[in-house]
Amino acid sequence: MFATLFQPASPQALAISQMMLIVLALSVLIFLIVSGGVSWACFRFREKNSTPRTRIRSGNLKLEITWTVLPLLTLIVMFFFVVKTMHAVDPPSGERDADIIITGHQWWWEVRYPKAQVLTANEIHLSAGIRYLVRLESADVIHDFWIPALARKIDAVPDHANYLYLEANQVGIYEGVCAEFCGTQHAGMRLRVEVQTPDDFKKWVASQSKAPHSPQSPLALEGEKIFQQKTCLNCHSLNSMGATEAIGPDLTFVATRKTLGSGVLKNSPENLAKWLANPQKFKPGVLMPNFQLSEKEIAALVAYLEALPGGSTP
Ligand code: CUA
Repeated sequence: MFATLFQPASPQALAISQMMLIVLALSVLIFLIVSGGVSWACFRFREKNSTPRTRIRSGNLKLEITWTVLPLLTLIVMFFFVVKTMHAVDPPSGERDADIIITGHQWWWEVRYPKAQVLTANEIHLSAGIRYLVRLESADVIHDFWIPALARKIDAVPDHANYLYLEANQVGIYEGVCAEFCGTQHAGMRLRVEVQTPDDFKKWVASQSKAPHSPQSPLALEGEKIFQQKTCLNCHSLNSMGATEAIGPDLTFVATRKTLGSGVLKNSPENLAKWLANPQKFKPGVLMPNFQLSEKEIAALVAYLEALPGGSTP
């Protein structure tokens, strides 16, 4: 993750990376001058039998002005670079028409595309080369949104929206994390950014906008019943049922996502079954309780959830 600071993959990350390198170079230069000067003085004025004691001076106006003005100039130069970087990275205060709304939850990320009417979780899809305005919110405590290769680190604060630009030069996968301690599963709040070609991105949006399948197989139909009986809908929304609660992620297209539990498990029907059997085993402290489901119930729920997206399973 740290290395990605040196592999900026967006104009915003490049601006941050450049500023970091300039400030780092400046700091190294100052360090060398100061430590070099001290070393030289230690050596040059070391005690020798022949040298008389140095006369102590009580003040030197020229020197005092020099060591006041030099740091001031250094700070002015740094200030200039910081303001330049902020211009490159932060949206102007008037720009508020967000393309993506990201909400931090304990302990997962809700990702909403208001214009495309897409709702997903823990993964952000972007079209390469396009600059997105992101509105960042929190549903509970302070989280911190950070995708080092793409954008600045910025807090997700309850009742206060923050804005940032998200953009990627190239197709690829970029990792992100929550960077503010937010409770037991702070470390289990991973984010995955999938940057796609414009065509692939359009396809993804279309796939996430489709009306979900109605379950056909007896097993999936059984799963639908269990889903309602076990009050899954109290926390998870499902487009097909018109529910809108957002304590846990929307599950309409859960089968199309790459991870489960915000990055703790690779998403597959087998892992979904394991997760349902005991979410606490994979993510201790997660707000999803262990429902003590039987193996049969789990198989039915998996069949149901896997059948929902415009997917292949009937
Ligand atoms: Cu959310 Cu740390």
